[in-house]
Amino acid sequence: MSALLCTVRDCHEPLARNEHGLACPRGHSFDIARSGYVNLLQPNDRRSKKPGDTAAAVAARRRLHDRGVTASLLEAIGALAGIDRDDVVLDVGCGDGYYLGTIALKSGCEAHGIDISVPAIDAAARRYPDCKWVVGNADRFLPYADKTFSRVLSITARMNVSEIRRVLRDDGRLLVAIPAPDDLVELRGAGRDRVPRTLAEFGTAFTLIEQRRASTAADLDQDAVHDVLLSIYRPRSIEKVTLARVTFSLDLLLFAPR
Ligand SMILES: C[S@@+](CC[C@H](N)C(=O)[O-])C[C@H]1O[C@@H](n2cnc3c(N)ncnc32)[C@H](O)[C@@H]1O
Ligand SMILES: [Zn+2]
Repeated sequence: MSALLCTVRDCHEPLARNEHGLACPRGHSFDIARSGYVNLLQPNDRRSKKPGDTAAAVAARRRLHDRGVTASLLEAIGALAGIDRDDVVLDVGCGDGYYLGTIALKSGCEAHGIDISVPAIDAAARRYPDCKWVVGNADRFLPYADKTFSRVLSITARMNVSEIRRVLRDDGRLLVAIPAPDDLVELRGAGRDRVPRTLAEFGTAFTLIEQRRASTAADLDQDAVHDVLLSIYRPRSIEKVTLARVTFSLDLLLFAPR
């Protein structure tokens, strides 16, 4: 299991386990939470006191995953990423850990998830204790050594191109999932096509090797529609919805390093 790196300013030394938690050779130390995750977030890494998804958004997204509405998206992500037990996988902006945790259980891979939200990582660590979970700002420094991972996933999440390239092996693969234009179309209308911009962003360091769209539709009751709105940060009360057919749709881009 590869070591985490210290996130204090420009330290970046490897962290080793001691009786209190994790510490680097310069004496910077980090606690391990009761649920097993490590919080590597530095005070200057956050814009607010509680950055990232709120506990309410995390719980709503988990209920949606647990209702099975995203099961076919998970299937498509797993198939395209082609992960097996020899892989070392990082999920950047992993949320409650549904995608990474399930893929790890199925494949037996070594799995690492990072997210800036404490409630998200706590939920992930409680449900998937065999994976490694870190609270950190993925837009800054990814606290892993160069070329650690054979697969990196970014599922409707962070796009730190240079850091992802640094931690990915030269023969590794990066899977980026972005909301497709028809994602949640019934609730928010058609969105823009984000593929061209994403290709341009990653094109500096990666070559696209495959592109697929994964879509599914689910009949959701009022509570579930409410959860969708919470999970996309648009909480509002919904009346009169008894059953609504809602589309979930992702554009999946598989990249190889240049
Ligand atoms: C739309 S959610 C996707 C979560 C998960 N990948 C999924 O699909 O279920 C975006 C996630 O990015 C996280 N996030 C936002 N800013 C971040 C940052 N700077 N570093 C790491 N994670 C961040 C949020 O806390 C949230 O969990
Ligand atoms: Zn240090």
